[in-house]
Amino acid sequence: MNHDPKDSDLMPLDLSYLDASKAPKERTAILLRQMTLEEKAGQLMQITCMKADPRFEDGKATGWIYSRMSDEERHAWVISRHGGSFLHVLGEEIDLIQSLSQQTRLKIPVLFGIDAIHGHALHNGATIFPSQLAMSCSWDLEGVREAGRVTAKEVSADGIHWTFSPVLCIARDTRWGRVNETFGEDPYLIGELGSAIIKGYQNDNLMGEDSLLACAKHYIAYGESTGGRDSYDSQLSLRKVREVFLEPFEKAVRAGCATVMTGYQSIDGTPVTANETLVRKILKEELGFEGFVVTDWNNAESLVTQQRVAADLLEATAMTLRAGNDMFMNTPGSYEALIELVRTGKLDEAYLDEAVARILLTKFRLGLFEKTKAKVEVANEAHLQANLELTRKSFVLLENKNGLLPLDKSGAKGLKIAVLGPNADDVKAQYGDWTFFSHPFPKDEPAKRPYYTMLEGIREVGSRFGATVSYYKGCDIMNSEDQQIQEAVELVKTADVIVAVVGDCLDQNGEFKDRANLDLSGAQQPLLEALRGCGKPLIVVLVNGKPLSIPWVKAQADAVIETFNSGMFGGLVLGEILFGETVPSGKLSISFPYHSGQCPVYYNQLPGWHGSKYMDQPMEALYPFGYGLSYTHFEYSQLRLSKDQYAIGETLELEVDVKNAGKLDSEEIVQVYIQDLVSSVMTPYKQLKAFKRVFIRAGESCAVTISIPTTEFYVINGEGKKVVEPGAFLLMVGPDSRDQVLLKHQFEILK
Ligand code: BGC
Repeated sequence: MNHDPKDSDLMPLDLSYLDASKAPKERTAILLRQMTLEEKAGQLMQITCMKADPRFEDGKATGWIYSRMSDEERHAWVISRHGGSFLHVLGEEIDLIQSLSQQTRLKIPVLFGIDAIHGHALHNGATIFPSQLAMSCSWDLEGVREAGRVTAKEVSADGIHWTFSPVLCIARDTRWGRVNETFGEDPYLIGELGSAIIKGYQNDNLMGEDSLLACAKHYIAYGESTGGRDSYDSQLSLRKVREVFLEPFEKAVRAGCATVMTGYQSIDGTPVTANETLVRKILKEELGFEGFVVTDWNNAESLVTQQRVAADLLEATAMTLRAGNDMFMNTPGSYEALIELVRTGKLDEAYLDEAVARILLTKFRLGLFEKTKAKVEVANEAHLQANLELTRKSFVLLENKNGLLPLDKSGAKGLKIAVLGPNADDVKAQYGDWTFFSHPFPKDEPAKRPYYTMLEGIREVGSRFGATVSYYKGCDIMNSEDQQIQEAVELVKTADVIVAVVGDCLDQNGEFKDRANLDLSGAQQPLLEALRGCGKPLIVVLVNGKPLSIPWVKAQADAVIETFNSGMFGGLVLGEILFGETVPSGKLSISFPYHSGQCPVYYNQLPGWHGSKYMDQPMEALYPFGYGLSYTHFEYSQLRLSKDQYAIGETLELEVDVKNAGKLDSEEIVQVYIQDLVSSVMTPYKQLKAFKRVFIRAGESCAVTISIPTTEFYVINGEGKKVVEPGAFLLMVGPDSRDQVLLKHQFEILK
């Protein structure tokens, strides 16, 4: 193997890897065998163009100064150090970097990555979808796949090739700051939605100019960190990791996901970055993942500086690679470390070869060497329409006492609506995390149209029916002193109905923003209480990144609508829902606690046997997983199976009658849970195993059929093996996860 770039310059280069008619594996082999050690190390580097330096005043740190890479630094990284990937680059810098890559000996294009996690949202003006948490409440696989497709087209139009999405973390402790980025709390639902969006991003097989590499993250059990504190240890056994957290990643691999990102945290004391069992053995060997693994931000160096399992960067770099990571996100020092490790014989070059091969194979599979920017207009009509449709399915109606909603359209002429609350007219809170407002560095530039704040949407739709809308903010989310409650009450005096838009804000969601207290913050609670005191119908709209503890709202509001971070069309859809233009059909993908101290309150817990509640709080969730009301109602009956006994490997086929017993056509999300009645290890009270979104006309009945392979009814036994254990199972079918609304039927798996 030749390690000296100068010598390699003299060797005739076999450029046949540039021949696109050759298979990706062959192209990879031809290229890899000609690479110097430096060129290989460079391919493993992912570089950020954004620098954040601490700012000091009078010796005290007061914030950050952000700057971009200089021309010299860019040149050094691409030409001299062969950098294989960059992240968070937008605009002309992409072209500058890519043209530099074409001046190198091997002309390997740079792979650009970005966090386009709910649309191409770091690009102001692109289509901004509901957050992952919001879109997960749609349970709409086709809509979520389409969100991936639209995002892929818009990201590819900027010459970017890779999105660090989807997040497949399981959000069970809602104090965690990154709940908004997840698809909720259920492994099955997360796996299905994750696979759908991956197929959308990657255009099924990575073909075409508008395909985007997906990245399943953060491998694994990252959301389960101690106390909901981001990046702390996840106190789990390997069996538990397999039982709860592996399923979404397994499905992502099956869906062909091109890349996986390792999480920041440790599991049972071993950082995931350094965990050979989890990364190399389970992900790569057992699940057969053929793409490449990228670390999270500076994970390698954190093994030294934070997690203290390596003495220096040399040791950390070797650990990271040996464990099975292929690309180093923003640990620039690992470039020199890799070269030194191989030169001094401390690391077998075969580790580098494997990692480089995986990265190059992915580049070839994507067609990167031939790729041009997709010719797509961002936020075009079709993209906006796909966004609007998904948003319509994502809102969850949590309360509707005495059928207050929808507001009577025929009587709406002259209806006076008072809109209040800190999130009524705040596009930043509505968009949530990972947009141009927050990344790659905090900005306060105005959002480009089209978008509708909640206020604007109510105005827009209300005006169609002759309603008038007045607005007053009323209070602040972060500051309990900043109250304008008396003025809010004055406004309400002349109104017929109150819409109070409350929740949380960007400062309360995201990395470094875990919360110990999930109550409404600032002066929101006193504002709501004052509004309630006015005696007018009170509709509470929630704009928030995570479930909040809102028992007062449940008890006191006449109607409650959960929107989470709903993106560009949140306001418009709210208007449509208030006036019955859209019938709400979303269901919660995550449970709400009564109280922060009740966390975690996820539905699929294992049984306990000393009492069924806290002595001072209920045991059950305030709003449970799968829950959501409609303007119509659905009646379930006649749950039946094609047979009651199955051999392992057969497929269970169930049928249930669902009647739309109300007056409006709508969609219902039929949910299927099972309980393994007796098993070698304990299993949850219930686990989601299938669902179907079905459209049923008012007054009509529909026989809904669902098939589930019996191999899905597995347990992870005491030896950590995935097995189906023969015996009796309880099948439960209905509109949400509460016992009292589920039809039940027992079946058996035979020996
Ligand atoms: C986050 C990742 C993200 C990466 C790049 C990290 O801090 O944990 O989710 O993809 O930054 O922005």
